[in-house]
Amino acid sequence: MKVAVIGGTGYVGLVTGIGLASVGHNVICADIDEGKICDLNKGILPIYEKGLIKLLKKARKKNAITFTTSVASAVKSSNIIIVAVGTPENRYGDADMSQIFKALKAIAANINSYKVIAVKSTVPVGTCEMAESVISDNLTDMNKHFDVVSNPEFLREGSAVKDFLYPDRIVVGASSTRALEMMQKLYSYFDCPFVSMDQKSSEMVKYACNSYLAARLSFINEISEISGSVGADIKMVIEGMKYDERIGGHYLNPGPGFGGPCLSKDVKSLISFSRRSNADTSVLSAVLARNKIQIDNIVSNVDECITDRKNAKVAILGLSFKANTDDMRNSPSIWLVKALIDNGYDNIRVYDPIVKNIKHRINDFVIHCNSIEDAARDCDCLIIMTEWTHFKNMELDAVYNVMSSPYIIDTRNILDSNKANETGFVYIGNGIRKKAIEKTILPTSVNA
Ligand code: UGA
Repeated sequence: MKVAVIGGTGYVGLVTGIGLASVGHNVICADIDEGKICDLNKGILPIYEKGLIKLLKKARKKNAITFTTSVASAVKSSNIIIVAVGTPENRYGDADMSQIFKALKAIAANINSYKVIAVKSTVPVGTCEMAESVISDNLTDMNKHFDVVSNPEFLREGSAVKDFLYPDRIVVGASSTRALEMMQKLYSYFDCPFVSMDQKSSEMVKYACNSYLAARLSFINEISEISGSVGADIKMVIEGMKYDERIGGHYLNPGPGFGGPCLSKDVKSLISFSRRSNADTSVLSAVLARNKIQIDNIVSNVDECITDRKNAKVAILGLSFKANTDDMRNSPSIWLVKALIDNGYDNIRVYDPIVKNIKHRINDFVIHCNSIEDAARDCDCLIIMTEWTHFKNMELDAVYNVMSSPYIIDTRNILDSNKANETGFVYIGNGIRKKAIEKTILPTSVNA
């Protein structure tokens, strides 16, 4: 099929466009960013995403994908137009719909035959209906027909290629059989349930999924704090929970709080449009409130390790909001840097194996280091924020030897606490803190 992707250089647009081209469709990705389009036509990706470059090469080799700045040509030459522009959070916590409106108007002006417009961007419930009116109002040829469908995406950064090629399900919300059949054909390559419904329910599925994941994370982060404070071990608690088929083991790893461009933005947007319908959102509000507490707790842990904030050196490992991506949007590491600075910590060293050249994006006083040891040198406290394998496999002795004080705060529980303690570190895990500290302190007090 001939497919246009509007917003085709963004995260979702790019993975979707390249993914559809790799499974046999003819794709044109359109975007206003000339630099990115130029690079993509040379085979250069604007983002770091595992496996995507290989897929792009495959698609380019088959001449199945092109990149253009012309929405007009993309729309005119396609049967299905996927809208994947950004809907970032505005200052009121709503989704900023300006790029959606712009895309819809541009599509309307270039409809030259029957088109299916598939909204993949995460948009408030009711947007597809609104899109139909916007397009109708801006059609240049009133005899041309179109349908708008909702087609939410469930791609995770870092595993987006795998998520695209092996989806759990495909959700399409449509009010027309013709459009639904075309969407079925578009996704016929994929061996997974194709779930069709009305447009509004489909739009709601996306918010429900991201909010559920966020709720699960806030829940486990709270259970982790409680576990640590009563002397239980969250890792063991999770072991005991995850075999319950009703619960499962996904999204149960405690961390520094959920970050990234989607979860909190979508929970906020859901709260915002739900309130306009007078629906209660107390659970969703609690999910966000709990997420904020995570950073306060890390700062409290640092405070417990440090006696002189002004002269203390703190190292942060990991800048992206999670491993396997270079995306720093809404990254808990950046929240932590800000919180530490606000609390009087002036000497902060950071290291990330992928994110580079970030000085201007954080703070002039933050030193960007080239390795774990470089970041840890003369530091009093090392904080692991991102679960990179590189950090998991760090040479504990080498790191210990360059540090001034032995404190290590592992917000992701990726290190072996016994090994860290044996090396000489005072290991502070997430939800296992009390136990680890007792183990370290006990021999000294016995000796005394
Ligand atoms: C999320 C959803 O998982 C995707 O399904 C959705 O398509 C996407 O948003 C979107 O709306 O575009 P993503 O933002 O890539 O994907 O991030 P996740 O992998 O869901 O992680 C979100 C945050 O939760 C990260 O900060 C991560 O470190 C944290 N997390 C995740 C944990 O702290 N513990 C876990 O067990 C899992």
